Amino acid sequence: MGKILATGGTGYIGSHTVIELIKKGYEVEILDNLFNSKIEVLDKIEKITGVKPKFHEVDMLDAENVEKVFAEGNFDTVIHFAGLKAVGESVEKPLEYYKTNIDGTLNILNSMKNNGVKKIIFSSSATIYGDPGQPQCVETLETGRELTNPYGKTKYMIEEILKDAAFADKELSVTLLRYFNPVGNHESGLIGEDPNGIPNNLMPIIMKVYKKEIPELSVFGDDYDTRDGSCIRDYIHVVDLANGHILAMEKMQPGVSIYNLGTGNGTTVFEMIKAFENASGEKLPYKIAPRRAGDLPVLTANAEKAEKELGWRATHTVEDAMRDTINFLRNA
Ligand code: NAD
Ligand code: UFG
Repeated sequence: MGKILATGGTGYIGSHTVIELIKKGYEVEILDNLFNSKIEVLDKIEKITGVKPKFHEVDMLDAENVEKVFAEGNFDTVIHFAGLKAVGESVEKPLEYYKTNIDGTLNILNSMKNNGVKKIIFSSSATIYGDPGQPQCVETLETGRELTNPYGKTKYMIEEILKDAAFADKELSVTLLRYFNPVGNHESGLIGEDPNGIPNNLMPIIMKVYKKEIPELSVFGDDYDTRDGSCIRDYIHVVDLANGHILAMEKMQPGVSIYNLGTGNGTTVFEMIKAFENASGEKLPYKIAPRRAGDLPVLTANAEKAEKELGWRATHTVEDAMRDTINFLRNA
């Protein structure tokens, strides 16, 4: 089994994937500049798995140091999580987003090329479907249309860059994993999503309301044409997501493979609030606010391809995610 480099491996999805990789016996090193994660995550990974992964505190924009990590690493596969991910912020700071996400990826790809690393898995997003015109997204849909923010555009552009790289180098294996809405955390409650600053996403906001750091949740719209008027998303437990990376990695072959990672089921915002209240035993204060620009009423995954080709299926429920979130909140 070859060695794996996880860029962004101290982050939310990266750290959960590193844990599952170590549990399966893989050797993993992490490259991260700790822009949106904390060094303590390494001790938590050790506490959970018994192994502290080798860590490189390196900015992926620093091509020279990225190259050093690759030259010494002898990696077989890169799992590329690192990047900036706040949709709203990307509208305010487009150049930062293009620079970090695109240039960072190019640096990783260049060092892969210089050092003969032939496999890369990329953290893509359902956002690249834009407005798909249907509630369920299948991998064969056209991508890149009607993208409303620079963050989403970087995900689309990186997918295209990786496709071109695989076309030019027939030995390169590229896997694009399109995540839907990751939630939850490791059942130990030791690690979880802990963003710096004010979050934009539903779960981190719910967590801050629970901790009384934000007075109430704003439900963005209760007049959509859905079963209770609020938007529907496909919330996927991060441990299921992590396992999807491993199954995808074990099936990599030259060329480009694309998989949605979602449950195939949708949950409304009100159902998320209810599930959180059931898990915490407390009421979650919320108010109805106007619709948020750019939100689709329904966005869920068609996850049949991952099931058929990888044998992957989400096994955790939203209730599991809420229980684990409460555990993390009470631990932290
Ligand atoms: P995260 O912010 O927790 O993790 C990203 C990591 O990348 C952080 O540890 C951060 O410090 C690191 N990083 C940022 N810039 C860097 C740089 N220049 N050099 C080195 N490291 C750098 O985010 P996450 O939620 O774990 O997301 C991981 C990946 O999955 C991202 O690419 C994100 O766009 C993608 N994704 C996330 C979601 C989601 O809702 N969380 C959905 C779809 C796709
Ligand atoms: N929501 C609220 N109040 C909030 C925050 C969110 O009601 O304060 C609602 C949104 O309107 C939406 C749902 O909760 O209906 C989920 O919103 P998120 O912002 O958590 O997630 P999105 O589906 O909008 O976006 C997420 C990621 C993006 C990714 C996109 C596509 O944040 O990175 O999924 O999969 F691109």
